[in-house]
Amino acid sequence: MARQELKIGVFGFGVVGKGLYEVMKQSPALDKAIKKICVRSKKQRDLPESFFTYNPDDIINDEEINTVVELVDDSEAAYHIVKKSLQKGKNVVSANKKMIAEHMAEMIALQKEHNVSLLYEASACGSIPVIRSLEEYYDNDLLLSVTGILNGSSNYILSRVFDNGQPYEVALKEAQTLGFAESDPTFDVEGFDSLYKLVILTMHSFGVVINPDEVLNYGISNISDFDINYAREKGFKIKLVGQVERLRENKITLFVLPRFVGRDKYIYAVEEEFNGVVIKGLAYDKQFMFGKGAGGHPTGSAVLSDITALMHNYRYEYKKTNYFQGFSYFKDAAIEIYLRYRDKEVLSHFDFQSVSEEYRGPKNSYVIGFIKLSSLMAIREKLRDKQLFIAATGKALNY
Ligand SMILES: NC(=O)c1ccc[n+]([C@@H]2O[C@H](COP(=O)([O-])OP(=O)(O)OC[C@H]3O[C@@H](n4cnc5c(N)ncnc54)[C@H](OP(=O)(O)O)[C@@H]3O)[C@@H](O)[C@H]2O)c1
Repeated sequence: MARQELKIGVFGFGVVGKGLYEVMKQSPALDKAIKKICVRSKKQRDLPESFFTYNPDDIINDEEINTVVELVDDSEAAYHIVKKSLQKGKNVVSANKKMIAEHMAEMIALQKEHNVSLLYEASACGSIPVIRSLEEYYDNDLLLSVTGILNGSSNYILSRVFDNGQPYEVALKEAQTLGFAESDPTFDVEGFDSLYKLVILTMHSFGVVINPDEVLNYGISNISDFDINYAREKGFKIKLVGQVERLRENKITLFVLPRFVGRDKYIYAVEEEFNGVVIKGLAYDKQFMFGKGAGGHPTGSAVLSDITALMHNYRYEYKKTNYFQGFSYFKDAAIEIYLRYRDKEVLSHFDFQSVSEEYRGPKNSYVIGFIKLSSLMAIREKLRDKQLFIAATGKALNY
């Protein structure tokens, strides 16, 4: 197919927008392709004022612009920008994981209806080409699971806590100062960022649209010295891990939880703001993708890769949505968790199927046992209670 000439309108000129601009300057094929950049408000910028507009319609209604790159930090605004652009027949690149995860079905329908392409490699794991790999290489039914460290900020904090012995609060402040964590870090440390990425990866792994609100995500903000010492004594690190796994009878399960990770796991060595994804399948066993999950230039490079793919008329085919009778999301899978608590009243909320270990201490106690994900979902608000912390041990019942 012939190469398409691109005229690009960009929304957003923050960390990723600027990163993209700088990366594009090094690409002779595209260094003059940006026609306009739409931002929220007037401020001192590195580019001439004539590049910028504050009115989205200057890009959306510009017939010459055939490609929109959406890099804004507001998911609601991103939704309207992307939807209108697709409806106008423009191809779109987006990095907004929340928007894509929450509107996956509509985004797929819009692409079909208007015969356009929406690419979003940068939305999951920054510079690591995981979406396109799942879509193109792992495009058969051998795939068993995708497991990974999907959020750079929380991984940075956990690295500092485990490797440098820093208190959680100090590590969090440092992550914010370095620009890895948001000023309101909830999105990262409570597991929402990982959740949205996991929902996107699930579509490209198993062809299932998942409502993020129906998936357990639990982060690292309740971690205490007791938990850290417990993990260290056993030779583990704690990592925030997202996982989607194929079960029997075309069912899948998915969740985001802190997890005890031993030296024998690939993700044990993923430190600081890096991301790492383990792809497991029949015949090839395990493969590991590793790289920078955030930052202007790494994320900008993923956006550039999508832009170049559009030059060659690439689009996701969502092939896996046509698999067999399709996969369904099984919410009753049971996993083994460690629950640390202070007040034993907490235990009454947890419907353990079996318990393998219990410890009662003067301040902290813990229990290890199997519990259904659906019963953890039922008490998800209770799980935010600062007096407790849960982590997956990595064991699951074989469904
Ligand atoms: N940062 C990363 O490492 C990273 C990695 C992967 C994915 N992402 C995703 O990339 C996107 C951008 O993140 P970022 O870190 O670059 O954010 P950022 O640094 O906060 O920049 C956001 C940009 O969006 C502009 N903006 C906000 N609302 C707008 C609107 N309604 N119309 C036009 N422009 C608007 C802002 O304009 P002003 O300049 O006028 O404020 C700013 O230029 C987000 O979806 C994020 O989740 C980021």
